[in-house]
Amino acid sequence: MVRHIFSNLILVWSITFDLYRPGWTHHSKKQSWNNQNLSSVPLDLDVKLRRLDLSNNFITQLHALAVPYLEQLDLSGNQLDLISEGAFGNLARLEHLNLSRNRLSVSLGSNSKALGSLGRLKSLDISMNGLSNSAAELLLRNKSSLDQLKMTGNVLIKLSPSMFRESKGITNLIIEDNLISEIEKQTFEPLSRLESLNLARNNLAFICDFTLHQVKYLNLSRNSLEFFVTREDAALYSLEVLDLSHNKLLYFPILPKLNKLKHLYLQNNLLGALGSEAVMVTEVNFLYQHIMKERIHRKNYLHANWRLMPLAYIDLSFNHFTSFPLETLSLLFSLETLNFSHNCLQHINWDIRNYHNQSQVRQIRFPSLKCLDLQKNSLTSVSPFFLKALPQIDTLNLQENQVQPCGFLMKSLPKIFDLNSSCVAFGQLKTLKHLNLRENYIKILPPTSFQGTSLISLNLAKNNHMVIGEAALEGVQATLQSLIISEISMNSSGLSLPCMPALTNLNISNNKLNKTPGSLACSSLKVIDVRNNAFTSLNCSLLQTLSLNQTAMFISGNKFNCCNSRWLTVLNEMMVRLPDINQTECFTQLRNLTFPEYLEHPSFYCSFKRDGQEIHFGQIIIIVLFLIVLLSMLIGFSRKLCCSQRSFMV
Ligand SMILES: *[C@@H]1O[C@H](CO)[C@@H](O)[C@H](O)[C@H]1NC(C)=O
Ligand SMILES: *[C@@H]1O[C@H](CO)[C@@H](O)[C@H](O)[C@H]1NC(C)=O
Ligand SMILES: *[C@@H]1O[C@H](CO)[C@@H](O)[C@H](O)[C@H]1NC(C)=O
Ligand SMILES: *[C@@H]1O[C@H](CO)[C@@H](O)[C@H](O)[C@H]1NC(C)=O
Ligand SMILES: *[C@@H]1O[C@H](CO)[C@@H](O)[C@H](O)[C@H]1NC(C)=O
Ligand SMILES: *[C@@H]1O[C@H](CO)[C@@H](O)[C@H](O)[C@H]1NC(C)=O
Ligand SMILES: *[C@@H]1O[C@H](CO)[C@@H](O)[C@H](O)[C@H]1NC(C)=O
Repeated sequence: MVRHIFSNLILVWSITFDLYRPGWTHHSKKQSWNNQNLSSVPLDLDVKLRRLDLSNNFITQLHALAVPYLEQLDLSGNQLDLISEGAFGNLARLEHLNLSRNRLSVSLGSNSKALGSLGRLKSLDISMNGLSNSAAELLLRNKSSLDQLKMTGNVLIKLSPSMFRESKGITNLIIEDNLISEIEKQTFEPLSRLESLNLARNNLAFICDFTLHQVKYLNLSRNSLEFFVTREDAALYSLEVLDLSHNKLLYFPILPKLNKLKHLYLQNNLLGALGSEAVMVTEVNFLYQHIMKERIHRKNYLHANWRLMPLAYIDLSFNHFTSFPLETLSLLFSLETLNFSHNCLQHINWDIRNYHNQSQVRQIRFPSLKCLDLQKNSLTSVSPFFLKALPQIDTLNLQENQVQPCGFLMKSLPKIFDLNSSCVAFGQLKTLKHLNLRENYIKILPPTSFQGTSLISLNLAKNNHMVIGEAALEGVQATLQSLIISEISMNSSGLSLPCMPALTNLNISNNKLNKTPGSLACSSLKVIDVRNNAFTSLNCSLLQTLSLNQTAMFISGNKFNCCNSRWLTVLNEMMVRLPDINQTECFTQLRNLTFPEYLEHPSFYCSFKRDGQEIHFGQIIIIVLFLIVLLSMLIGFSRKLCCSQRSFMV
């Protein structure tokens, strides 16, 4: 899902490092002294070294290094407080320097002069060094070729243009986890190559005039942002990924009108707390007017700027929505994935403004929406107009809501009822393939609940005491590949399934079942989970009919009868994998034991039984009688023998 520009940048970053790994070039030389309790740099360094790793030691001072070919130096995780001025004088080729987790703020004068001599540096990490604004500024002198800079975990409070005056070539800048509450104008604007900017975990309260046209990835997660506003202009912004999650946003951000935004993260904010969508839109437009000092209220700035976004993914989970922002989201024509989980929706109603004909309902659409996550709201009803607005829907997650599927009975009801009906007519979603209805308090699954969809996977778990009628899955029995009906406390009489030829995964765990539905013989299952039920044995003839090659079957947590386990032999013959056989218990008249224990001495535990058939009491008597006769004959014979021997001796 999160396949965006940032990972590409990381890739580029790691590739630049990889070039210097031994093996890539024959001449590159690497030496690692990582974690060796060193208190100073070793004296006998190979002059031809290209890479040197001295990380995680106790080095406190660094003096002139005589490794003229060195390209990469890692000194992270030491206690470096003094780098002498000329320390890097011989390192004309050094390009990658990692100084994170040291104490560079201590001898700042000397340290900054040393770093100042490294004009060819491409990447620099000075995270976690206790650096203030002015300290960081000094360390960034003479860095015109710097490409990647990381300053996470310092104590920067304010960013101003002087900070990056001598490092204008930066493309990737990470300043996470500082105390930044202010960014002066023209701080980042002159960094014309800046593509990725990470300012997560700072103290920014608002962005009131976003102007970074060049930036593709912007991370402002975990600040205290209340709003984000961009002045409407005709310039094209490069923005592709924007993370505003974990802030205090009350309004949707007003984004650049022309952008390339694909991923927008807005989870964990206060969106929706103002009430209806109309109120939020009005308020944010007022705010815009106020910030931009526009005197006349011309139009809907928010919507004007959202209308052209090529957004494919938006995360609105963990916000405060009580109503679904239909109009705003329907402007996003390219939207494919919408995460609306963990909000406070009870209904998705169709209250949208009607411009022209008041008597007709206006139908707006989400033309590209494929994946809609509505889990953990409190939904009880979804308007049929909303379902109609999802022509491409593929995956719908309604876990932990309270929706009831409509059966075919509902279809003949008049339109008026539909408008307010309390059941959800899934049949309208022709393209739907994956549906999650886990934990919805469904009591009865009515006949043909899903007829009309293209369901491949269906999760009905944890709908306590739900009854599934024979006809409930009618219409999807030919397409369904995965069915989860676990944790329902149902017994075998409450479950009847149709013939499902495509079914490969079945989870009926955590119920009270003692019989597998006979109709399973139709399916070619690959994974079956029957854990924690009331099975005492499994139906051998059913198992034999099922084509079970390569199948895995989870069986623990049942009350199997050890002495009636021919099914186990059948499964074994069919090479079914039983991953939890070691945890699976069975009982005998003597005691409970695990199957492996039982299989060590099956005849010992089941001596009175053979293949589940008791040996008749009469048979036992006959055997005992036979033994007695045999014994007495033997005694008689041996007496005779003794006597005759004795007579010889006489
Ligand atoms: C610097 O080293 C630390 C480990 O000490 C590592 O987490 C960090 O990613 C390194 N920085 C760069 C830019 O590779
Ligand atoms: C800047 O770096 C270059 C090497 O790239 C060096 O020759 C020059 O002396 C440095 N300037 C200062 C002021 O240290
Ligand atoms: C933004 O930064 C936060 C904090 O480091 C991180 O958890 C999150 O994954 C980043 N967002 C994106 C979209 O990369
Ligand atoms: C939506 O967000 C929730 C909570 O973070 C997460 O568990 C879920 O996987 C997300 N859904 C999608 C489709 O990304
Ligand atoms: C329709 O539903 C709303 C709440 O969802 C309720 O207030 C209203 O009375 C219902 N109307 C009818 C005709 O049932
Ligand atoms: C079946 O569902 C239960 C939850 O009810 C889950 O713990 C288990 O992992 C599922 N089985 C498989 C094979 O995925
Ligand atoms: C075992 O399954 C077959 C169908 O394969 C069915 O006809 C038979 O009644 C089942 N036996 C029991 C004891 O449930």
